Amino acid sequence: MFCTDILVIGSGVAGLSFALKISAFARVTLITKKKKADSATNLAQGGVAAVLSAEDRLEDHVNDTLISGDGLCNEEIVRLVVTEGPERVRELALLGVNFQRGKAGGEFDLGMEGGHSARRVAHAKDLTGREIETALLAQVYANPQIEVLEDHMAIDLLIESKATGWKEGNDRCLGAYVLNRSTGEVETWRAKVTVLCSGGCGKVYRYTTNPDIATGDGVVMAWRAGAQVANLEFVQFHPTCFFNRYVKNFLISEAVRGEGGILLNDQGIPFMKGYDSRGDLATRDAVARGIDAEMKKSGADCVYLDITHKGRAFLQQRFPNIYGTCLHYGIDISKQPIPVVPAAHYMCGGVRVDEWGCSSVGNLLALGETACTGLHGANRLASNSLLEAVVFAHRGAQWVQRNWSELQRQPLPTVQAWRTGFARSIEENVLISHNWDQVRQLMWDYVGIVRSKKRLQLATRQLAPILAETKEHFHDYLLTPDLVELRNIVLIAELIIYSASLRHESRGLHYITDFPEKDDAQFGQDTVIEKNDGSM
Ligand code: SIN
Repeated sequence: MFCTDILVIGSGVAGLSFALKISAFARVTLITKKKKADSATNLAQGGVAAVLSAEDRLEDHVNDTLISGDGLCNEEIVRLVVTEGPERVRELALLGVNFQRGKAGGEFDLGMEGGHSARRVAHAKDLTGREIETALLAQVYANPQIEVLEDHMAIDLLIESKATGWKEGNDRCLGAYVLNRSTGEVETWRAKVTVLCSGGCGKVYRYTTNPDIATGDGVVMAWRAGAQVANLEFVQFHPTCFFNRYVKNFLISEAVRGEGGILLNDQGIPFMKGYDSRGDLATRDAVARGIDAEMKKSGADCVYLDITHKGRAFLQQRFPNIYGTCLHYGIDISKQPIPVVPAAHYMCGGVRVDEWGCSSVGNLLALGETACTGLHGANRLASNSLLEAVVFAHRGAQWVQRNWSELQRQPLPTVQAWRTGFARSIEENVLISHNWDQVRQLMWDYVGIVRSKKRLQLATRQLAPILAETKEHFHDYLLTPDLVELRNIVLIAELIIYSASLRHESRGLHYITDFPEKDDAQFGQDTVIEKNDGSM
């Protein structure tokens, strides 16, 4: 039985920023299921969107975010994030994040991306995420108040009603059961406050830009604990993932289109204007759908992104990572267009939280991609995700600080240790890998960029036996990281399919052929579900 003040689950920008802020007055244990830098943050290329130049206006960033969110953003949250954003970005710079400076020595060199009406993306060339992750990790490791535990994987949250039989009012989170991958033991971690920062769930799809850790863990743990989750039908597909059979999940940043990159079909013809008057810099939902339609029309395996007109010197300087990686795989992007396809990239929904990052379960916060704050609505605006993570990490820490005396007074009851019963070792890993592959293919084929009622019904039906089998494995076998992830990925698939089948309209990232129009009267609101509402 371990005890800490604050248990942070996840080591991306949200978890690290929150840990640093909270360490001023509390002890933090930050667990991460693989190595410390295994996070989506580390792969982020584009940057952080914020109003950082005199030519830009907060109102314009607000409007761009609202337009992209297609009627589902919470305007109050949008205003709050956009307003607080610039200060948080400057804070990152003070913590050592080396953002690219402006040409005339200006504060920031600002990039352009789809859906933005101005240059407002602070970046570190095309390695922004890695730069942020490295700087924050250095700070975290130098901080004696923060303990980082790698290879520690949260399995389930400890919930007061279950642990003590207490049932009235709002339930409270007391920490988590955690699988220590090195020992194979399940540890019980109790904490005054638990914070889910475990990223998204791109791995539920066959093709994704996400790292392997993105298996929806935070959202499904919160769901199992009785928390509300929202808008899980809004899965963002990034329009341009490198198409190459030897490369897993390599993104071609939206900033490439921001710098003038043009999408071409297999005949070498630009096509985006035919789908959206904003052309190649339309919002991501529109561009991904345009590419999908073009590929279906031609039967080609991919489309192409042409940035050759910018010349080698510029491309090497602005996109060193993309230039070098493509060259390594035989594509000189200064001479040839880049083969690209859309791939699952970002979950706009998540654990429903208020303006402080607090979920509907007491003492349980969710930050970053794991959360649904109301900022993204039905489609996230490019580079608003790192922004949301740092703004809400700050707000979450403010909430804990304000309530710290009261939180410290609350007793942490004794809870039962994890019980393995008669579980035995799993001898054949194919029991896991087979279901894992099936779920990912099913989601890609039936719950992708364009959906239909029929395909969602088939997906529900085909997922049911996999859910049942996974439940059996979870009961019968000793836990392994793969089994824990399979359990999570199957549940997040079920929740996405269920949420998608509730929305009988097309909006933002949810396009369903049976209901091609937007229906504000009936569906102009979030899709909020919870385990205890009897819906599933
Ligand atoms: C990109 O660089 O295109 C990704 C940035 C984002 O997802 O906002």
